Amino acid sequence: MSSILYEQSLSFKRPLDFVFTYLADHSHMSDWAPSVTSASKTTPGPVRVGTHFDIQMRFGLSDLSLDYHVTALEHPQYIELKGKGETFSIVERLRLEGEGDHCHLLYQIEVYYQEPVSKLVRFFSPIVKSSIKKDLVYLQKALDQQPSSWKPTLWSKMGDRLLLPGMLHFSKKGFASAKDRWIGVTEDLTGRNIVITGPTSGIGAAVARQLAKLNANLIFVCRNEKKALIFADALEVEGYPRPRIEIADISSVLEVEALAARLLEKGEPIHALINNAGALFNQRGVSAEGLELSFATLLLGPFILTERLYPLLKKAGEARVINVSSGGMYMQAIALDDMEFEKEDYNGDKAYARAKRGLVDMTELWAERWKEDGIVVHAMHPGWADTAGVSAAMPKFYDWTKTWLRSPEQGADTVTWLAASKEARETSGLFWLDRTPHTTSMIPGTRSAPRHQSLLRERLEEYSQKLSAVASQSFR
Ligand SMILES: NC(=O)c1ccc[n+]([C@@H]2O[C@H](COP(=O)([O-])OP(=O)(O)OC[C@H]3O[C@@H](n4cnc5c(N)ncnc54)[C@H](OP(=O)(O)O)[C@@H]3O)[C@@H](O)[C@H]2O)c1
Repeated sequence: MSSILYEQSLSFKRPLDFVFTYLADHSHMSDWAPSVTSASKTTPGPVRVGTHFDIQMRFGLSDLSLDYHVTALEHPQYIELKGKGETFSIVERLRLEGEGDHCHLLYQIEVYYQEPVSKLVRFFSPIVKSSIKKDLVYLQKALDQQPSSWKPTLWSKMGDRLLLPGMLHFSKKGFASAKDRWIGVTEDLTGRNIVITGPTSGIGAAVARQLAKLNANLIFVCRNEKKALIFADALEVEGYPRPRIEIADISSVLEVEALAARLLEKGEPIHALINNAGALFNQRGVSAEGLELSFATLLLGPFILTERLYPLLKKAGEARVINVSSGGMYMQAIALDDMEFEKEDYNGDKAYARAKRGLVDMTELWAERWKEDGIVVHAMHPGWADTAGVSAAMPKFYDWTKTWLRSPEQGADTVTWLAASKEARETSGLFWLDRTPHTTSMIPGTRSAPRHQSLLRERLEEYSQKLSAVASQSFR
């Protein structure tokens, strides 16, 4: 057996306690280390001696799988982990000390190779060391909260003009090439109230877990209480703060109004609202109040929730709204004269695209309206992610593209970044994919003029007033 030893000292302008907790949880690695493609904690409960992590890495052209486990945890000064791969094993030692807002890390890693690979160690030792060094550069940047570069690249600009390269960005390859430029999100969201709709599955569940890991105070908006309780229990068992659960069907105007009234009554500031709940409906359906389901779920529900929660967003002093839209919106313009798809034969893809386009329009309108209130508003596209929503609504597309689809965590990344990072506070009204702003229109005639956006807002408000009036009359 032979080994490679690498040691480096790093200093951060972050409190010792935070850095210790962050580094002990190796599931954060996929966020800050360029070589790590995915990382998850496989032992329930808070991180302690014996906690295991599943780490997937890319080294050169090969994919490596590692089972890590914590072998020593002496709060707040020492963390030791052992990792086991197919042909090698790792011992990692992290010694920390610090005072006030500064801390110092002595990082040491020893990689042991078994026969016959051990014979080649001296050849690939420089490559291994340079890969570790690169990861540590990114750890330094993440803990120093250096801004990521989100300037559009030549490739992303081409994607904004031509549909095909644009669509390649939506795959996991697009995610992997974008990730190379990023800095991990290491904000501490303790005390920040974040409302998220649709956290019980897919992208919403991944966002919820990513934000829980940053200590956010989550408020789940779900229609299925049982699913919500199971997920809240799971997060608690994993050692994260337990989310509060609010039940509401986003397609129901009355349920959304009642939810907003409950939150207003509580009066807690809302630091972020994530409008994520959604689905694509292949067949025309109607909501509890008889409205076409795509429109009711993907546009009207999020519209009412966001408008009603404005006082609580304003109260936060610094707040963000994140609207999960879709690249599908590129294909359609809004149809102000036929919001519920009554004048032509129903088409689920078109109805979905129009509603998602409407959400992007509202993003631009709210960004402008609320710019003096400390509220920024973002729309985003998660890319194509492997979720229950996609396999159920688009089974053929799913079968053809499944090896290209992103994981839900990769789809969730930009939502989490928009909700947590400092950079995302600096802009408003943009449409994001992979932490980069993109055009909102590829096809002429699909972009809405500001006066159409104002008209859209008026129509949506009329819907909610009308339905609330009918409901209050029927209660009399
Ligand atoms: N996956 C992709 O490739 C992709 C691409 C572009 C955009 N998106 C958007 O990303 C968002 C999440 O989609 P996903 O792929 O993660 O789908 P998913 O796995 O089906 O999750 C959808 C979530 O929304 C909730 N939801 C749906 N309708 C609701 C309603 N009427 N009231 C309350 N909650 C409701 C679901 O609740 P239940 O658990 O109760 O069903 C679930 O938690 C959607 O807005 C979708 O349009 C996804």
